[in-house]
Amino acid sequence: MEIHVKVNDKPVTWNVSPGEKLLDVLRRDGYLSVKFGCGEGDCGACTVLVDGRAMRACLLLAGQVEGRAITTVEALGTPDAPHPLQTAFVECGAVQCGYCTPGMLLAAYALLRENPKPSEEDVREALDGNLCRCTGYKKIIEAVLLAAERMGRS
Ligand code: FES
Ligand code: FES
Repeated sequence: MEIHVKVNDKPVTWNVSPGEKLLDVLRRDGYLSVKFGCGEGDCGACTVLVDGRAMRACLLLAGQVEGRAITTVEALGTPDAPHPLQTAFVECGAVQCGYCTPGMLLAAYALLRENPKPSEEDVREALDGNLCRCTGYKKIIEAVLLAAERMGRS
């Protein structure tokens, strides 16, 4: 079946089978920032934004996003012009293996769009469903708060 979506503002048509997950279709189409972690909705590695809301691509069938706008971390910034969240993650040492990072960044991005001045508790809550095996979370939370502060100033 044909699915029409926008991915990172670009109109895309996918040919998918009825049971195919959004995660698999995105990866097949080259959006390799969308990671397979658990495949069961537990880890957040596959987080994407669907119409601006952070959602698990492993829990969505491709057919469920017909007509929707999907954002992956490829749209956030570039190596030459990183998003303030990406800069803060690097500066705070919030990236180690990086497997969780795209999902963390998108969950944080969605938070800051809704709540530009989050408390530490707000950040913890927004990232609650995104697991990291490496950083111990403290640096990730610091990075989100630092980015929020800088974005508030600019
Ligand atoms: S791969 Fe989707 S939540 Fe873990
Ligand atoms: S940096 Fe390795 S899982 Fe988070």
